[in-house]
Parts: sequence; C-alpha cells; structure tokens
Amino acid sequence: TKGKLLVRGSINIDEFFVLPHIVRSGETISSTDYSKRAGGKGANQAVSAAKAGAEVSFAGHIGNDGAWLRELLEGYKVDTSQLHEDPSVPTGRAMIQLSTETRDNSIVLLPGANFSTSPLPFSSLASAGYTHLLLQNEIPLASTRSFLTEAHQAGLVTIFNPSPMLSPAELESFEWNALDWLLVNEGEAEELVEILGGKKVDSAEVLSALRRVESLKGLTGILMTRGGDGVVAALGGPEGDTIHVGPGEVVGSVVDTTGAGDCFTGYFTTLLSSLPPSTPLSSSKLAAILNVASQAAAMCVEKEGAMESVPMLRDVKERMESSGRWKSE
Ligand code: RIB
Ligand code: NA
Repeated sequence: TKGKLLVRGSINIDEFFVLPHIVRSGETISSTDYSKRAGGKGANQAVSAAKAGAEVSFAGHIGNDGAWLRELLEGYKVDTSQLHEDPSVPTGRAMIQLSTETRDNSIVLLPGANFSTSPLPFSSLASAGYTHLLLQNEIPLASTRSFLTEAHQAGLVTIFNPSPMLSPAELESFEWNALDWLLVNEGEAEELVEILGGKKVDSAEVLSALRRVESLKGLTGILMTRGGDGVVAALGGPEGDTIHVGPGEVVGSVVDTTGAGDCFTGYFTTLLSSLPPSTPLSSSKLAAILNVASQAAAMCVEKEGAMESVPMLRDVKERMESSGRWKSE
C-alpha cells in the first residue's frame, strides 16, 4: 500500500552563518562561512517524505524571489502543483546561526510569503485523493486549523508537529479532536503539559503526563523526540503502550542538527502512510518505523543544511543492514 501525503506548511530560504558561538546581545562577530539553502519546516518535511519514498505534495507560498525553490522541490520529486507564488512579498527567510563550538543553532524567522493570504486552490482534500495530512506551525494558524478540520472530516490521517510552539490561548482553543498524531520535542511536551494539563512535571514524567491531558486523550499516538537520546512514543490513550527507541547511529561528529526533526517527521509520516489503513498499529510495527526514522535523522546531522542533508531511504536501509538493525516485514 501507498498513501498519498499532503504537507501544508512553510518554505524558507535558509541563510546559514557559521560562527564560533551564537551572537550575544550587543556583540558583533564575523561568520567563518555563509551559505544560502532551501528550508522551512513544511518544505523540509515534504522533501524528507519524498526521500523516504512517499507520494507527496507540498502546499504553501513562495514570494517574488523563490522560483528556484519550486525547481528544487520538483527535483526531489515533491509535487508542487499546490505551491503558490505571491509576487507581492519576499519568500520566507530563516537566519540561522550555527556554532562551531557547540554545534547548536539559533534561528530568526521572517514569515514573508508563508503568511500570504493568496488562496490555495483546494476544492476538497478528499477528492484530491490524499490519505495523510502533515502540518507544522510556520504558517497562519487559521490555515492550519482549516486544513486540519477539513482533513479530519474527510477521513484523512492527520499529523501535527506544533513547532514553533503556539501561545497558551491558541493551544487551549486548538482543534485537538481533529488530530491523530502529535509530534513534539521534550521542550514542547513540557509546555503542552503545563498549559493544557495545568501542571509542571519533570522530564521523566512528561510523556505520561501528556497522554493524560484531557484534550489529547483521543489521539492515536504521541511521539516525543529527545535529541540524541532517541524517541518515546505513547500509543492510544492513558492505558496504551509506551515505546522507547534509542537514537540512530551518527558516523563521525555531529555537523549540523538543523532540520533533523523535520527529517524524522517526514520519515515517520511516510512509513506510517505505507501501512495498510485498516490494520491496527502494533507496538512492534511502530517501533520498527521509529527506528528507521531515527536513523534517518541521525544521518541528517552528519551533514550541513536541512533538506539536502536528509538521506535517501536506500542509504538508511544500507546503514541499518550493516549493523543488523534493518527489519524487513
Ligand atoms: O526545522 C528547520 C527549519 O526551521 C529550517 O529549515 C528553517 O527554515 C526554520 O524554519
Ligand atoms: Na543537517
């Protein structure tokens, strides 16, 4: 089986400044390297899905300087028929500082065309044949909400990576009942528990606290990524299984973590969408998917850049086979 995936999200021009450390308030420092690359959480996740083997479309906006991004996405085999050009605004930008000392990054966003209100031409998601919808948070919240609601009503599987995080008011009024899968990192999980669950918990308890949050009880699953410590997944409601998967193998040193989360999300969604829709997802099947997605994310940090550092599925498979970790059905 093969699903048909729609990613509705952002696309950016990522400007990378490589620096000894991330600039401090009042400080001026020179970068030792600069590069201009394609990025944006939505586009990164769409490219990751394509590299993982998905049939995927990207819905979003480029501005008057982004024609090259369309060609690039097409080169990665992402369908761009829902990518719109708004000539009145610049393409979204991300100014990324990458520290050579810590390999940390920090990002300043210019929303640009991602917040364009020029309409996307969907008549209906279901008639377009999509089976899965993947969303993040670098576009207007109103658009996220309307895509999510429509997708849910049309019976698509919905996956949401609420990054960057929403405000408390936005979180409280969000359409959680239209959502199937929630993907967060540890920091986002802690914020969600605090705001939606009304309490602060320490990191050891955060996932179990999150799955007990009333508004999230209907979710199929929650995934929490833990950077270099792997991923934890909670399947079903408070009584469901919890699955721990260790990190993928990084060969050499960590070069750049930008986009690693997007790589994981694109892989996860693709592998999920390739399962037969009617069979319930077992813990072992989910663990197998998470292992592959984690290995892809680990390979992503071995190289600079976001979408271009996402590995192809065959390379992930080869890496896992060489250490006996590839599980064929
Ligand atoms: O998640 C990484 C992405 O975040 C970058 O590509 C940048 O565009 C920012 O949106
Ligand atoms: Na990278």
